[in-house]
Amino acid sequence: MAYKIAILPGDGIGPEIINQAEKLLQCLQQDFGFNMELESAAIGGAGYDAVGHPLPEASLVLCQQADAILLGSVGGPQYESLDRDLRPERGLLGLRASLELFSNLRPAMLYPQLVNASSLKPDIVSGLDIMIVRELTGGIYFGKPRGIRELENGEREGFNTLVYAEHEIERIARSAFDIAMLRNKKLCSVDKANVLEVSELWREVVVQVGNDYPEVELSHLYVDNAAMQLVRAPKQFDVIVTTNMFGDILSDTAAMLTGSIGMLPSASLDRDGKGMYEPIHGSAPDIAGKSIANPLAMLLSVAMMLRYSLGEPELANLIDTAVGNVLNQGFRTADIAEGGNTVSTVEMGDAVVAALRALVK
Ligand code: IPM
Ligand code: MG
Repeated sequence: MAYKIAILPGDGIGPEIINQAEKLLQCLQQDFGFNMELESAAIGGAGYDAVGHPLPEASLVLCQQADAILLGSVGGPQYESLDRDLRPERGLLGLRASLELFSNLRPAMLYPQLVNASSLKPDIVSGLDIMIVRELTGGIYFGKPRGIRELENGEREGFNTLVYAEHEIERIARSAFDIAMLRNKKLCSVDKANVLEVSELWREVVVQVGNDYPEVELSHLYVDNAAMQLVRAPKQFDVIVTTNMFGDILSDTAAMLTGSIGMLPSASLDRDGKGMYEPIHGSAPDIAGKSIANPLAMLLSVAMMLRYSLGEPELANLIDTAVGNVLNQGFRTADIAEGGNTVSTVEMGDAVVAALRALVK
């Protein structure tokens, strides 16, 4: 049976990098017996331009019916003045919520070839391999009430609600413990339990779930300290589990440890392992259309899709190897170049496809 894969290019550099992912998938189909059907749909600003909504109904239906979803990126300055509910980010958040993609895996791994691209000293980051597990469908991103209201004195007040129910904490904790079991069995839960009641409950539930995983060494950090530790001594971490907003922030920090946010893929999974896969970087409107964006985070997202949703770990490993080989061969897009020649988005995509083909020869 053919895997049904929904392709959502989105905005900015999204379409350029998604093209490279499609090229890679076609190579898997032609040379590796991978059987798939691809179908594209609009999301984000592209959805708004097409039908006036960042998450068109047809796109949602396509995603519901697909075995997995690949997404480029959403957002752009031309949409910033739109009503909040019509902004591109709403398309992405709506998809996460509608499909209940509560478990967001954001690996931060340093390729040895890129150790000098990191802004931190090589001995601090070399060998770095962290997995951030971010809660993705709850917390302050979705809590109600929310809004901007006028007070009696005419002043306006903005408000959001940070709320987590026990079952939401429990399922993300389980997800993180399961992943820790497959790795180095160390889990650090990040919260702000010294100030927030919701964090107090978070910590309590994580500890409870931990009773089912006696082999995993569980620790806790307050988020401010975690942010500091991530740049001070990042290799102390194996798996980090945290809330939606803390995870948003810490995963960007962790990304930069690896040299470029252009290298990092992500998976957003529901309870059955169905998922959406996207680079963690944004739509980078400043470089869109120039074919200079790094497609590797997108291509590594394809590898994660094969591994986590489609049960094709061998193919996933081949892509990871091909990316490593391309870096060994010296191919660099502008974001990871240290002087020297750079290649375009398309050339980088072609190089990975060639490296993949070379693996079957
Ligand atoms: C991310 C992004 C999104 C988020 C935006 C685009 C809504 O920053 O995936 O990290 O905040 O979750
Ligand atoms: Mg973010």
